[in-house]
Amino acid sequence: MNVVIPESRRRMGRGFLGLDREHGFEPMEVRGTIPDDLRGTLVRNGPSLFESFGHKYQHWLDGDGALSHVAFDSGTARGGVRVTVSLELREERERKRALYSTGFTLGPSWWRRVGARTKNTANINVLSWQGRVFALTELGLPIEVDPSTLETIGPSDLGGVASDGLNAHVRIDRTTGCTFAIGLSMGLRTELIVYALPTVGPASVVTQIALDHMTIVHDFAQTETRWIFMAHPIHFDIGGAILGTSPAAASSRWAPEEGTEIIVVERRAPHRVSRFKVPAFFHFHYGNAYDREDGTIVVDLCAYKNPDAFDVMTVERARSGEAWVLASTATLERFVLDVGRSSATRQTICGEAVDFPSTAPSLQGTRHRYLYALLTRDDREHIAMIDCDSGSLVVGDAGPDIFVGEPTFVAKPSAQDERDGWILTNAYDASRNVSGVQIYDGRDLTRGPIGSAWFAHSIPYSLHGTWVGREG
Ligand SMILES: [Fe+2]
Repeated sequence: MNVVIPESRRRMGRGFLGLDREHGFEPMEVRGTIPDDLRGTLVRNGPSLFESFGHKYQHWLDGDGALSHVAFDSGTARGGVRVTVSLELREERERKRALYSTGFTLGPSWWRRVGARTKNTANINVLSWQGRVFALTELGLPIEVDPSTLETIGPSDLGGVASDGLNAHVRIDRTTGCTFAIGLSMGLRTELIVYALPTVGPASVVTQIALDHMTIVHDFAQTETRWIFMAHPIHFDIGGAILGTSPAAASSRWAPEEGTEIIVVERRAPHRVSRFKVPAFFHFHYGNAYDREDGTIVVDLCAYKNPDAFDVMTVERARSGEAWVLASTATLERFVLDVGRSSATRQTICGEAVDFPSTAPSLQGTRHRYLYALLTRDDREHIAMIDCDSGSLVVGDAGPDIFVGEPTFVAKPSAQDERDGWILTNAYDASRNVSGVQIYDGRDLTRGPIGSAWFAHSIPYSLHGTWVGREG
């Protein structure tokens, strides 16, 4: 197939070359205005190295992760970035050769492949918990990183609780500050495990829920009284991975005739589980969810028709720009779940291509009107605010030759309204080949970025991040 690749996608392809410089905190170049009341650190994670000692990775998500940290204080910015050194990567560096498989690429060492063993690439998201920072992947142990030196401390099972590893997304209770995380246990049967990570004291297991089969549960939704999980009809052929003959993540089958299963768990009585199926769709991310007085649940998420987006995100296609031509896109959908009737309605809120939705953290689990998201329009990405009541969009232009990612909402200290926040995003300036962070005013994205902070070098595109605020 002959694919016409837009010039913008070719330009952004350099953002998928490997990280070539690691360092601790250094002053960054500031353009525009960094708000004085923006005090804290944006920590972002993403695949950063795409080969190991000449052994090239096939897929973008195979890349060894790096955390970038951009600390704002009194109008200034300092930043640092380091690769997260998993035990497997450390061993490869000590032996100066590739040893392990990654999710989509077989490793050169046969006996290390057997049993579906893969390198912990720690490359998707960031967990901030009790002053500690962890790099998260899917189905792997969190890897702790020192937030001062940015050096890797090592993998953690959170005090012996999470030995099965965590998935990439967490939810924070807006009232208690407790973080809830999920993981999958794969023994004779697959179980979804919910963990509580309180602001003080040890982590614990809240509940375990049996799944029909091993699938992707990348994110989950949380209202004030319930958790919502959605299990898609993706089946992994793990036989080849166990024998060491095929990569663990590369052999999946989409079975839409089975439908997508919706699982609703009462948070205060987690043995009470309701489950039913809806017509199949695929998604990565929820924007928000909340309970309504009539007992139904509103869940806003970005839905794809199927998981094809996975297949096209090879390193080669990301660098050429072809991946964006071939990849399917998501729309913002509102599901209203009626647990008593085991049914759901679905309505499109925004039919444009959007993903990475979020609200102000103070609204998580309660009714929201606005979602901030990453919009794809005219072969570029833009930060957008979606009015969920009307479906209308407000869009911020990142600037010529600048490519942005997931928006992160940071509430202004004086916030009165759910739009009173600074919207932070990672940015790659292709004209200068440098990466940084842009800051938008959540009240008026049309102004474009009001300020930005830039490293002196590029950092491969990151996937997700979190804001670590600082008091005072
Ligand atoms: Fe994600």
